[in-house]
Amino acid sequence: MAALIRTEGLHLTFGGVVAADHIDFELHTGERLAVIGQNGAGKTTFINICTGYLKPEAGRVLLEGVDITGMAPRKIVRLGVGRSFQLPQLFTEHTVRQCIQIAAARQNKDLSWFRPLASTVDAHEVEETLELVGLHADAEELSSDLPEGKRKLLDVAMALALRPKLLIMDEPTSGVASEDKHGLMQTVMHALDQRKVTSWFVEHDVEIVARYATRVAAWIAGAVVADGTPEQVLNNPQVKSEVLGT
Ligand SMILES: Nc1ncnc2c1ncn2[C@@H]1O[C@H](COP(=O)(O)OP(=O)(O)OP(=O)(O)O)[C@@H](O)[C@H]1O
Ligand SMILES: [Mg+2]
Repeated sequence: MAALIRTEGLHLTFGGVVAADHIDFELHTGERLAVIGQNGAGKTTFINICTGYLKPEAGRVLLEGVDITGMAPRKIVRLGVGRSFQLPQLFTEHTVRQCIQIAAARQNKDLSWFRPLASTVDAHEVEETLELVGLHADAEELSSDLPEGKRKLLDVAMALALRPKLLIMDEPTSGVASEDKHGLMQTVMHALDQRKVTSWFVEHDVEIVARYATRVAAWIAGAVVADGTPEQVLNNPQVKSEVLGT
């Protein structure tokens, strides 16, 4: 069976900086991948290439064997790849429920500008997504009024409303108080399990990586330097000295 995502020779430079260095990578259905690496290692660049936000100078991205290299982000979303952002991309003048409605409406190919938003979206689907991530009690809050942990959760919920096969999360716990990180990840991972979504998340917190990932890949200077189980990668000498600084 074709890998869910496969990259071949992905390469991208910014001036003199090699942000993606001929990356060959595969992700399979059912995996929970954590990507680790220091600031500037190229973790977000790799996500941006795989989700259509950046075009590589060389190489290809295949989704279940289909070449999606350089396709528009919204098309890649429709093919089943959702993402959340390092800084949550919310509709700040809207409530939590409206944010999920707007996200879900994007998936509706029949969306007409002349029809009221609510009529284009299955209301049950929106309620189910709110319940799934535990944001039901906050449904009428303005998204801009939420604390950071719930803003991150809403960003994930908006991606889940599009019913992805794969969800890529760029630092889902960054900016969240350390005592709230595990609760956030538990909620997110439970939601992903319920919907049978494969996941890939960027994370700096080693405890979170060890607890929630089934596989870890370590990035240095645009390249994958270690890839394996959390135990293998977190104990790899190069990863320990150059990524974790321990
Ligand atoms: N749009 C851009 N223009 C110029 N340089 C960029 C751009 N995007 C990324 N870079 C550079 O590419 C390198 C990789 O950046 P990237 O954002 O992918 O790192 P990262 O691993 O996500 O880091 P962080 O942990 O800080 O989020 C860095 O040197 C960065 O400065
Ligand atoms: Mg980044």
